[in-house]
Amino acid sequence: MNIILIGFMGVGKSEVGKSLAARQGMNFIDADEIIEKTEGRKISQIFEKNGEPYFRNLETEVIKTLEDYDNFVISTGGGVVLREENVKMLKEIGPLVLLTSSPEVIYQRLKELKDRPLLEQGDKMESIKEILDVRNPIYEKAADLKIDTSNITPLAAVEEIVKWIKRSK
Ligand code: S3P
Repeated sequence: MNIILIGFMGVGKSEVGKSLAARQGMNFIDADEIIEKTEGRKISQIFEKNGEPYFRNLETEVIKTLEDYDNFVISTGGGVVLREENVKMLKEIGPLVLLTSSPEVIYQRLKELKDRPLLEQGDKMESIKEILDVRNPIYEKAADLKIDTSNITPLAAVEEIVKWIKRSK
């Protein structure tokens, strides 16, 4: 079994994912990192040079390659749920754990960063709110478990996931 972390940018997927993997004796992989490695460039460069649709195709290609993975915690890019086929493929390899945070917390975590191309045009807080409005129902529909990380530590989120895994065994 794998555990797949989904959710908006800045909700803590990588941090929670790494400590969950360590806690459970699982491996950790970040789907965005696979894209950057295979392309040999940063996601921001891919968006800049080739645009979002090109990136979304790469993302789906990477999801396809996860089919044979086992015992992995997999962190995904925030937009992975935008394609139903991605969600379907991910659900075949493990439960989807949704991490959420309030727009204010997301903004605080991302305000100094420049590596999220979708938030680089216009007002960052406005962009966060707008994209969340569109995506929230999609995240909710895809999720098997949902954890709000706005006011808890990554370790507390890990504990909630571990408890849930034990209960659902
Ligand atoms: C995106 C989220 C990013 C990355 C890309 C697009 C999105 O990943 O895939 O910038 O559409 O929400 P993180 O969620 O890891 O920041």
